Amino acid sequence: MARFAAFVSLLAAGIVFQLSHGVEVNVTDKEGKLCLYANLMVNFSVSYPAGEKIDTVEFELPSEVTTNGSECGATSSTLKLNFGDGRSWSVNFTMDGNVYQADYITFSYNLSDTTVFPSSGSNETASVTVKSQITNVGVDTCYSCNSKDMILTDMVNMTLSSVLIQAFVSEGNKSENITSCSADQPVTSPPPTTQGTNATTPAPVTNATSTAPPPTTTPTPTLPPPNTGKYSVNSDNTTVCLLADFGLRISIKQGETYQEMNLEPNKTTASGSCGVNSSELQLVSSTMTIMLTFINDTAKFRLHAVNFTAKTGSGVDFNAVNTNLTLWEAAIGSSYMCNKEQNYTITNLLSFYTFNLRVQPFGIAKGVFNTADECFMDSDLSFLVPIAVGVALSFLIILVLISYLIGRRKSRTGYQSV
Ligand SMILES: *[C@@H]1O[C@H](CO)[C@@H](O)[C@H](O)[C@H]1NC(C)=O
Ligand SMILES: *[C@@H]1O[C@H](CO)[C@@H](O)[C@H](O)[C@H]1NC(C)=O
Ligand SMILES: *[C@@H]1O[C@H](CO)[C@@H](O)[C@H](O)[C@H]1NC(C)=O
Ligand SMILES: *[C@@H]1O[C@H](CO)[C@@H](O)[C@H](O)[C@H]1NC(C)=O
Ligand SMILES: *[C@@H]1O[C@H](CO)[C@@H](O)[C@H](O)[C@H]1NC(C)=O
Ligand SMILES: *[C@@H]1O[C@H](CO)[C@@H](O)[C@H](O)[C@H]1NC(C)=O
Ligand SMILES: *[C@@H]1O[C@H](CO)[C@@H](O)[C@H](O)[C@H]1NC(C)=O
Ligand SMILES: *[C@@H]1O[C@H](CO)[C@@H](O)[C@H](O)[C@H]1NC(C)=O
Ligand SMILES: *[C@@H]1O[C@H](CO)[C@@H](O)[C@H](O)[C@H]1NC(C)=O
Ligand SMILES: *[C@@H]1O[C@H](CO)[C@@H](O)[C@H](O)[C@H]1NC(C)=O
Ligand SMILES: *[C@@H]1O[C@H](CO)[C@@H](O)[C@H](O)[C@H]1NC(C)=O
Ligand SMILES: *[C@@H]1O[C@H](CO)[C@@H](O)[C@H](O)[C@H]1NC(C)=O
Repeated sequence: MARFAAFVSLLAAGIVFQLSHGVEVNVTDKEGKLCLYANLMVNFSVSYPAGEKIDTVEFELPSEVTTNGSECGATSSTLKLNFGDGRSWSVNFTMDGNVYQADYITFSYNLSDTTVFPSSGSNETASVTVKSQITNVGVDTCYSCNSKDMILTDMVNMTLSSVLIQAFVSEGNKSENITSCSADQPVTSPPPTTQGTNATTPAPVTNATSTAPPPTTTPTPTLPPPNTGKYSVNSDNTTVCLLADFGLRISIKQGETYQEMNLEPNKTTASGSCGVNSSELQLVSSTMTIMLTFINDTAKFRLHAVNFTAKTGSGVDFNAVNTNLTLWEAAIGSSYMCNKEQNYTITNLLSFYTFNLRVQPFGIAKGVFNTADECFMDSDLSFLVPIAVGVALSFLIILVLISYLIGRRKSRTGYQSV
C-alpha cells in the first residue's frame, strides 16, 4: 500500500506549492520484497440508475488506495486497488515465456455509497470487466504508457494515463528498462493499422534504456471567456470598503499538463476585510478559494499576495501562494482598471487571466468606484508609445548635441576674452 503526493516547496521567492501526480503503489511478496509496481492515473465516468433516469458521475482514482487483495505468483499476479467505500480497480497479469500481459481489468463499485452516487437508489455492488490492452511486455521491463487509454463500456468509461506498471519484479528491484505502449511510439508516416478490436496487434517490445519516458503535452480545450463578477466587501453592515469587478480564468500546471478553469461569479461568495494598511478579498466557489491581499503603500495600493487553493477530483488540494507581487497598482483614492485580457504569472504553476478588471481596495467614498487609473494596454494610443519613445530619444540626442555645440562655442569665446 502506498500513496504518492509529490511535495515540492520553493520557499525562496515566497512561493509555496504542492502538486498531485499519479497514484503510486508497491506490492510486496511474503518476504517483503517488491513484486508488483504501479504508478498511474485513472479517470472514471460511471452511469448509474437514479430512479427513472440515468445519472453519470466522474471521479479519479484517489491517492488514498489500499492494495488488499493484490498478490504475486510465479506466472500470475493481481493488482487490486481499493478506494472509497467499496470501490476497487484490479488487473490480473500472466507471464508467458519472456513476455507478460494484463488479461483483464475489473472495476467494482458500491452503488449504496451516496457520496459518490448521490441519487442512487440501489444498494448493490456493480462491476465491469474488460480485456486489457497491456500486452507483450518484456519480462523484467516496466510497461509505460503516457498516452490516454480509453476503455469504453455501456455503463463505465475508464481513462488510463501516465501508466507505469511492472509485474513480476525480480529480486525486488524495479527494472530500469521500459516497454512503451504503441500509442507512445513516435508516429511514422503510414499510420498504425486500424485499432479498436480487442485482438490488437502486439505492441513492439523495445529495449529503451531511458527510464523517463518523454512527457506528453495534451492541449487544453479553449474555454469561453469567464463571466464578469462584481464582488464587494463591507466594513460594517452597510458601508462598502472594497470593490472588485472582473472575470477570472485560472490556469494551473499539473505535471506536464495545464488545467484551465473559469471562476463562476454566481457560484462564488465574496468576503474579506478592510484595513488602513491592508485589505483582503476572499472568493470561495465550490472548486476554489482565492485570497487576494492588497496593501496601502502610502500613496499607492497594489495587489501584494495571492493564496490560491483548488480541489482536484482526487481529493488532493492544489495550493499556490505568492506573497511578493506588485500588480494592479494605482493611487490611493482611485481604482485600477484594465478591460483588456491580461495574463499574470502568479507562480510557475499558477496563472491568472483577467477580463474587464476594475478594483479599488481602499478609500471608497459612496459605495462606487473612484476614477480609474487605466492600465496601459487599454489605451487606444498604446501602439504610439514605441514611436513616442523613439521621437523623444531623437530630441534628446539633438538637444545634447546642441548644448554641446553651444558649450564649446561659449568656452572658446571665454578663452578669447581672457
Ligand atoms: C520580492 O520581489 C522583488 C522583485 O520583484 C525582489 O527584489 C525581492 O527580493 C523579493 N522579495 C522576496 C522576499 O522574495
Ligand atoms: C457501500 O457503501 C455503504 C455506504 O457508504 C457502506 O455502508 C458499505 O459498507 C459499502 N459496502 C462495501 C462492500 O464496502
Ligand atoms: C437493499 O435495499 C433494500 C431496499 O431498498 C432492502 O430491503 C435490502 O435489505 C437492502 N439489502 C441490503 C443487503 O442492505
Ligand atoms: C536493460 O537495458 C540494458 C542496456 O540496454 C541492458 O544491459 C540490460 O540487460 C537490460 N535489462 C533487462 C532486464 O533487460
Ligand atoms: C463513454 O464514452 C462514450 C464516448 O465518448 C460516451 O458516449 C458515453 O456516454 C460515455 N459513458 C459514460 C458512462 O460516461
Ligand atoms: C531486448 O533485450 C533482450 C534481452 O534483454 C534481447 O534478447 C532482445 O533482443 C532485445 N530486443 C530488442 C528489440 O532490442
Ligand atoms: C449589523 O447588523 C446586525 C444585525 O443585522 C446588528 O445587530 C448590528 O448592530 C449591525 N452593525 C452595524 C455596525 O450596523
Ligand atoms: C450563472 O450565470 C450564467 C450566465 O451569467 C447563467 O447562465 C446561469 O444560469 C447562472 N447560474 C446560476 C446558478 O445562477
Ligand atoms: C494609507 O496609508 C497611509 C499611511 O501609510 C494612511 O495615512 C492612509 O490613511 C491610508 N489610506 C487608506 C485609504 O487607508
Ligand atoms: C493559504 O490559505 C489557506 C486556507 O485557505 C491557509 O490554510 C494557508 O495557511 C494559507 N497560506 C499562506 C501562505 O498564507
Ligand atoms: C482526469 O480528470 C481530471 C479532473 O477531474 C482532469 O484534470 C484530468 O485531465 C483527467 N485525466 C484524463 C486522462 O482525462
Ligand atoms: C502569458 O504570458 C506569458 C509570458 O508573458 C506568455 O509566454 C504566454 O504565452 C501567455 N499566455 C497566454 C495564454 O496568453
